Amino acid sequence: MELTNQEQAMLDGKEGYAVRKSMEILVALGEIFGAKNLIAVDSVQVAGVSYHNLGDAGLEFLDTLSKDGKVKVLTTLNPAGMDLENWQQLGISIDFAEKQTLVIEAFQRMGILISCTCTPYLIGNLPLYGEHLAWSESSAVTFANSVLGAKTNREGGPSALAAAFVGKTPCYGLHLDKMRAPDIHVSVNTEISKLSDWGALGYAIGKKAENKIPYITGIKTAQLDELKSFCASTVTYGTKPLFYIKGITPGAELQVQPSQTVSIESTDLKSAYDNINDDVSDIDFVCVGCPHCSIKEIQEIAELLRDKKVKESTEFWVATSRIAKHHADNRGYTATIEAAGGKFACDTCMAVAPLKGRFKALATTSAKGCFYSRQNLMKTKMGSIKECIDAAVTGKWN
Ligand code: F3S
Repeated sequence: MELTNQEQAMLDGKEGYAVRKSMEILVALGEIFGAKNLIAVDSVQVAGVSYHNLGDAGLEFLDTLSKDGKVKVLTTLNPAGMDLENWQQLGISIDFAEKQTLVIEAFQRMGILISCTCTPYLIGNLPLYGEHLAWSESSAVTFANSVLGAKTNREGGPSALAAAFVGKTPCYGLHLDKMRAPDIHVSVNTEISKLSDWGALGYAIGKKAENKIPYITGIKTAQLDELKSFCASTVTYGTKPLFYIKGITPGAELQVQPSQTVSIESTDLKSAYDNINDDVSDIDFVCVGCPHCSIKEIQEIAELLRDKKVKESTEFWVATSRIAKHHADNRGYTATIEAAGGKFACDTCMAVAPLKGRFKALATTSAKGCFYSRQNLMKTKMGSIKECIDAAVTGKWN
């Protein structure tokens, strides 16, 4: 890879250990993927924040980097393993909380915004069309590439952090226009109505367009919350972190419709639901907010929960960013949800919190949430926000 004098100086250690280590990571990555050079990034989103995933080795690595490294561009964090303020109420142990706090303090020393959300685009890290980024959480990467028209590969935690210290990333993959062309046409021939249908659609397309970039036709309208749900599921179940929806996402009109076509019929959606939903009726955990809830979704939850009570044997979480929670506080939604027995899980989510073995059956709006919760040994049910609220109140999935 060709390096500028300044990049070579960073690789030689002129800016300290963290930057040298970062350059080593970026150069190694660039050489593996055949990048010719590094390219400047406008922002970074770092995953690998939960102590549950990092362990002591990860914490030590971050601690060492934080001793002399400061990020060069706007850098935000993915969800951590716990709500940073309200962890006790969510049943997190003191030992875990202490370690998670050390992780967060290390990121803070690096100059990273302690945002802890997978929807950075809702809280101030909003890229523009064509900007280059180094983001790592898969739904956020897909949203940035597809809905915003920015350009990012799906970085690992270390390579995103390295890009933050250097302000650059190797120029390969989805940074190159020629690598962003769609390679399969997906004709959607069925109605997509409620939020979870977008999760089911993502599942169905992910399975049919595995490891490809879909060019999707047949969708007439889409709202932000629907697209963020779709981004999470399509990439979880198989596509590259980029899609085009004709008439909806930016840049779709510039692409040529691929000749290879697959279709999505109502039977495909039904089969997606059948695969995601387990045969279970007793629900002990309900979580809405994968990806993290927008303020609009929190409003809907509050309206549905007004004057109701979450069943005592069921835990109900609203997973969201701290900023969205702040707005919910001001609008009175928090009070309504908490009065009903619901809990806010800010800064964290059902996939990265240490939940293995704690719950038996999850109800959620999210296909991605179901995927990861199965790894945490839960049975899963996916449906609308209303169906999830009903499950929280009755402890049953009907
Ligand atoms: Fe976000 Fe966690 Fe879902 S990171 S997309 S809420 S699995």
